[in-house]
Amino acid sequence: MKIIAGNWKMNGDAAALDALLTEMQNIKTDNKIILCLPATLISQATGQAGRIAIGGQDCSAHSAGAFTGEISAAQLADAGAKYVIVGHSERRSAHGETNEIVREKAQRAIESGLTPIICVSDMAQVDGSIPDTGDIIIAFEPVSAIGTGCVPAADDIAKMHRVIAQRTGGRCPILYGGSVKGANVCEIIGIDKVDGVLVGGASLTSDDFIPISICKVNQ
Ligand code: PGA
Repeated sequence: MKIIAGNWKMNGDAAALDALLTEMQNIKTDNKIILCLPATLISQATGQAGRIAIGGQDCSAHSAGAFTGEISAAQLADAGAKYVIVGHSERRSAHGETNEIVREKAQRAIESGLTPIICVSDMAQVDGSIPDTGDIIIAFEPVSAIGTGCVPAADDIAKMHRVIAQRTGGRCPILYGGSVKGANVCEIIGIDKVDGVLVGGASLTSDDFIPISICKVNQ
C-alpha cells in the first residue's frame, strides 16, 4: 500500500471535481488516495469522495480570531477534511512562510485532528518544520522538480528519503513530490523509503490521476 496524494493547487471547480470523482468511483487499488483541494470544494468532495480522503492545501498558524481571509485547521476538519498540506514551497517562497510558521501550522492541524502533509525540500526544513509529536506525513519535494518535468535520479531520491527517515526516527510516511506522472510513478514508488507520492498537475483529471492512483511497485 502506497499513499497517493493529489494537490490541485489553485485549479479546478465543482464540475471538474464531479468529473474526477465520478470516474474514480470504481477504481480497484490498495493504495491510500488523498485529494487536497481548494477549500471551496472540500464540502462537495467529502459528500462524494467514497474511499478517497480529502485534504486542504494550507491552514492558518492561528486557531481562530481576527485573521481575515485565513482558514483554520478546525474549519477544514469541520468541512470534512482529514489532511492538510503545509509548507509547500509555493507558500514558502511566495508567502514568506518560515520553518517556524510551517511548524505552527502543522501543530494547529494535529490539534484539530487533521494529519498534516508537511512539505520540505532540504534538511534545514526537516529540522525546523516538523513538530516533535503527532501523526504526520512528510513530502520531500525538490523545488527544481516541481512542475518542471525534471525528476531527480532514483539514487538521489533514495538518499534524501533515507536521511529524512533517519532524522525523524522513521516515525511517519515520506512521500516524494515533483513532476510525478503515470509514466514514472511505478519506478518512483519502488525506490527505497518512498512511501508514496504528492502529485500536482497530474492530479487534475481522471485520465492522468487514475493511472497514478492504481500504480503498483515495479517488480
Ligand atoms: P507537480 O507538483 O506534480 O505539478 O510537479 C507537485 C507539487 O507541487 O506538489
